[in-house]
Amino acid sequence: MTTRTILLPDMAASARLGAALASLIRPGDAIWLTGSLGAGKTTLARAIIANLCGVEDVPSPTYTLVQSYEALEGFPVMHGDLYRVEDASELIELGLEEAVEDGAVIMEWPGLLDPRLMPDRLEITLDFDGSSGQEGARMARLTAHGGWEARLERIAV
Ligand SMILES: Nc1ncnc2c1ncn2[C@@H]1O[C@H](COP(=O)(O)OP(=O)(O)OP(=O)(O)O)[C@@H](O)[C@H]1O
Ligand SMILES: [Mg+2]
Repeated sequence: MTTRTILLPDMAASARLGAALASLIRPGDAIWLTGSLGAGKTTLARAIIANLCGVEDVPSPTYTLVQSYEALEGFPVMHGDLYRVEDASELIELGLEEAVEDGAVIMEWPGLLDPRLMPDRLEITLDFDGSSGQEGARMARLTAHGGWEARLERIAV
């Protein structure tokens, strides 16, 4: 487990982090996005998917729970938001196991997930940041597991 902190002063910084992450993602990877309501999880997920899949119109999957995309390199990409899931039994039908076997998974509100299911995992916790003096700034705390450990320092932002 390795950690790193990245300040995101504005939306452009979130977009840059998303692009940097997209360039490193490969099949078998998971990115977990944690943080309170409005912390910037979907913003970051959109930036990743825009760069990874070439898709600009990324809806928040709050109601569908998961949304499927295809990476420009050809592997499947699942974007999920488990905020509305109350019990882990609801996860079975989502096909998460297959999704991370064949491709990459980007998950908001991953609290109910079993981490063993996604060992090559980058956990990102987003917080509102008051220390920088920039209104709206966010702080991203990145925790790398498995295959992400060696890549953490290569995230070029
Ligand atoms: N790095 C940033 N700097 C400034 N504002 C940001 C940043 N990231 C996101 N925002 C703003 O915060 C708002 C909420 O972001 P977003 O919808 O991504 O949050 P979320 O964590 O997905 O929230 P929810 O849990 O409600 O789905 C966005 O409208 C965006 O304008
Ligand atoms: Mg969201």
